[in-house]
Amino acid sequence: MDAVTPSLEVAGLAFAYPDGHQALFGVDLRIARGERVALLGPNGAGKTTLVLHLNGILTGGAGTVTVAGLPVGKRHMAEIRRKVGIVFQDPDDQLFMPTVREDVAFGPAASGLRGPELEARVRTALEQVGMEAFADRPPHHLSFGQRRRVAVATVLAMEPEILVLDEPSSNLDPASRRELADILRSLDVTVLMVTHDLPYALELCPRALVLSEGVIAADGRTGELLADDALMREHRLELPFGFDPRSVTMGA
Ligand SMILES: Nc1ncnc2c1ncn2[C@@H]1O[C@H](COP(=O)(O)OP(=O)(O)OP(=O)(O)O)[C@@H](O)[C@H]1O
Ligand SMILES: [Mg+2]
Repeated sequence: MDAVTPSLEVAGLAFAYPDGHQALFGVDLRIARGERVALLGPNGAGKTTLVLHLNGILTGGAGTVTVAGLPVGKRHMAEIRRKVGIVFQDPDDQLFMPTVREDVAFGPAASGLRGPELEARVRTALEQVGMEAFADRPPHHLSFGQRRRVAVATVLAMEPEILVLDEPSSNLDPASRRELADILRSLDVTVLMVTHDLPYALELCPRALVLSEGVIAADGRTGELLADDALMREHRLELPFGFDPRSVTMGA
């Protein structure tokens, strides 16, 4: 793929759930290859609904989603699912095999990897999230934070073009939260991270989008958006007590 084709392009995306509740009202955004972008917004803003459109779990509304130049739709679904790695908000939506190892192997095996190559892929992904010692355990015996880490590994094992994480830091202890940040920074992939953890967004993502009532209400440098008190108030975004985004120097 050439350097100018964006990893993700969403144009005019509107969607109503079958019960008639409209969640997205025309979302437009574009994420270049290698960018790390935070998707911020209050509860119910439509963030998860947007994420579920990125690999075609939800379809049927208006507008288009394009991943690395490929339109998301029936025609390219297998390739889209390989390119877009989604870590769901709830790890229990992601883990369904009898053991951690089988869950992490599932995606790469489905795309044709076998034998030692598959084993190596699984081991690397589990090592990246510090869960290699849990390979033979059933996912449902793990703690929530451990299941979240395994869910991240299932997606890393696919070596996706774009990594989409819905609330990745929730329920992680501070050390795991930092380790996940280190992993995300070390990977050479495009990242879209949904989060209510604003310091985490600032630490990891140079750019942020604010989704509010189903539209993109702001798009800019994360530090500038978080320092815009009026914008923050308008979209129910609140910084943790004592946190001053102006005093943070961001990592590369
Ligand atoms: N299956 C569904 N059927 C009907 N309405 C839904 C469904 N799922 C979500 N909604 C509604 O769509 C809107 C957007 O929900 P969504 O889950 O995308 O919000 P969110 O931004 O991810 O919120 P949160 O920060 O709480 O995760 C909400 O008003 C929600 O009630
Ligand atoms: Mg959500």
